[in-house]
Amino acid sequence: RPDRRQRERLDMQKRHKPEEQAIEILRGNDRGGYTVPTPGLYPYQWNWDSVFAALGFAVFDRGRAWQEIETLFEGQWADGMVPHIVFRKNDPSYFPGPDIWKSNTDPRSSGHSQPPVAASVILTLAKTGGKDDVARARRLFPKLIASHRWWHDYRDPDRTGLVGIIHPWESGRDNCPDWDIGMDRIVVPDDLGPYHRRDTDHVDADERPTVQQYDRFLTIVKFGRECGWNHRKIAAEGPFFMADPGVQFTLMRADRDLLELGRLLGETFDEGEIEGWIELSQQGALSMWNGDIEAFVARDLRVGGFSTALTNASMLAFYAGAGTGDQLGLLAGHGREILDICEYGFPSWDPRHEAFECRRYWRGPVWSVMNYMIAIGLEEHGYAGMAERLRNDCRRLPELSGFYEYFDPLSGEGLGGPDFTWTAAIYLALGRGLDPALAKV
Ligand code: DGY
Repeated sequence: RPDRRQRERLDMQKRHKPEEQAIEILRGNDRGGYTVPTPGLYPYQWNWDSVFAALGFAVFDRGRAWQEIETLFEGQWADGMVPHIVFRKNDPSYFPGPDIWKSNTDPRSSGHSQPPVAASVILTLAKTGGKDDVARARRLFPKLIASHRWWHDYRDPDRTGLVGIIHPWESGRDNCPDWDIGMDRIVVPDDLGPYHRRDTDHVDADERPTVQQYDRFLTIVKFGRECGWNHRKIAAEGPFFMADPGVQFTLMRADRDLLELGRLLGETFDEGEIEGWIELSQQGALSMWNGDIEAFVARDLRVGGFSTALTNASMLAFYAGAGTGDQLGLLAGHGREILDICEYGFPSWDPRHEAFECRRYWRGPVWSVMNYMIAIGLEEHGYAGMAERLRNDCRRLPELSGFYEYFDPLSGEGLGGPDFTWTAAIYLALGRGLDPALAKV
């Protein structure tokens, strides 16, 4: 029997066209200058969620779109890091909240970052806007440079061209099997203490990470908190340090977009510094290639092991412009096979692999923001048919099931949180051609 929220959602679906619903969701999740991804489950400002939210706002309120990114950057740390959650008030509906992270910053925040997509979205807004868009992009430009410098400096301390992540949450793909090799090596300390997860108060447990994974997530947070979020120490000695094709590829794309943005704005900046990042990252990315499965995959940077299957993050190689022509051809072939198996693409884990779980968060389900970026890369590399399929699936899925956080790739069922900001935002952006690979930008 539907609960009150489900009934309201069904009523809304009956009353409004999907585009109106999407706008209503963005407005409803607005907390005054920033949006929450969805009420209850995620009651704070999340990093890449907000950046994608800006794309949705841009369709009907440009000023509000910029404000979303500006408020996110209010949480930027002195060293340049943009944290993955900005806490503006305490909300007991989420765990772990600000008292667990103890960031010692104002505003309070979590202690690590999330995929660096801001420069890419800001470039899209600047290219599609007017004078005000350019002025606001200009004010954010030095902050963007500082955040990219932070990634290359703190997350690639040996200058290999491959950045590491210190927590699966930093990838945004929290419980993907990509992290199993790194997570298996984490020893959960006896004094981790009891804690009350809140996510499973809002969403079915079979759509969320397991208890064992949460223990390890919190073990990493404990290490960071106890060393005062000293990121040099965490990268060198922390319980987890892995290369993520998602972060590596979004950063590679964002570096290129940052360079283009600086030139478009007529800014004076060290172009050579960014060109150096771009060149080195091309080299670094090659070491994520797993020849056995013919894809770029996650790697454990402590002991060197590869993850064992292709993900939607692997498919971001096109978006990054990474790899050789042969590698991209092989990836496209696997992409086609996977899309033939799934009614809705692109799944977050290869359905041909035994670890595939069609309902569990990042272990199978489809995510609109990943589709958006994969489609841009595919379109730019001449795979227009596959790109169109993924953009269509971002529109078909919410029309079928509502604006859920993620979707079952086999049935299209909506999963996770309802009325989800970034699903609505991507729906709007694609409906209006706010996509750098398409002609309107
Ligand atoms: C969560 O709590 O599940 C979030 O994804 C962490 O960022």
